[in-house]
Amino acid sequence: MQTSLENDKIAELKKYISDISGKTDKPESYLIAVLHRAQNLFGYLNREVMDEIAVIMNIPASHIWGVATFYHYFKLKPQGRHSISICLGTACYVKGAGNILEAVKKELGIGLGETTEDGLFSLHEARCLGACGLAPVVMIDDKIYGELTTQKITEIISGYRKSNRKSKEG
Ligand code: FES
Repeated sequence: MQTSLENDKIAELKKYISDISGKTDKPESYLIAVLHRAQNLFGYLNREVMDEIAVIMNIPASHIWGVATFYHYFKLKPQGRHSISICLGTACYVKGAGNILEAVKKELGIGLGETTEDGLFSLHEARCLGACGLAPVVMIDDKIYGELTTQKITEIISGYRKSNRKSKEG
């Protein structure tokens, strides 16, 4: 059953679609913008939200699903509070990104595309974060960490855990 909070979000999404649809009569041309908005509202794109969009926009749900799964940007599962993206682009890879990835997987106990049980971290891979000079690079939320070692990234993750604990206590 949908909560009133979710109903509010659906209402907001409907309004967004109604506003944007006035600008063109081709729903396909603004589908990505709508999915973007839905992800901002709900945190990720679940099946119910995509079905809802399909009905509102009169587009087959299978098409919406195809678009959402094609773009790496769209998340289909609940995401952790912090998003960790490990750059596996060439420059980072030759500087040991594979080892960084293994260290992070071990530290968090999850694989790529997964979220920790406490809901604190989600782990993703990236293809060049545009900071090759600092390789190997990891992005956490919107912050870039460069010239990493396995020890440094483990310490950085511990720092996020500590500040999360403090914000809960405070
Ligand atoms: S390859 Fe990692 S930042 Fe460019």
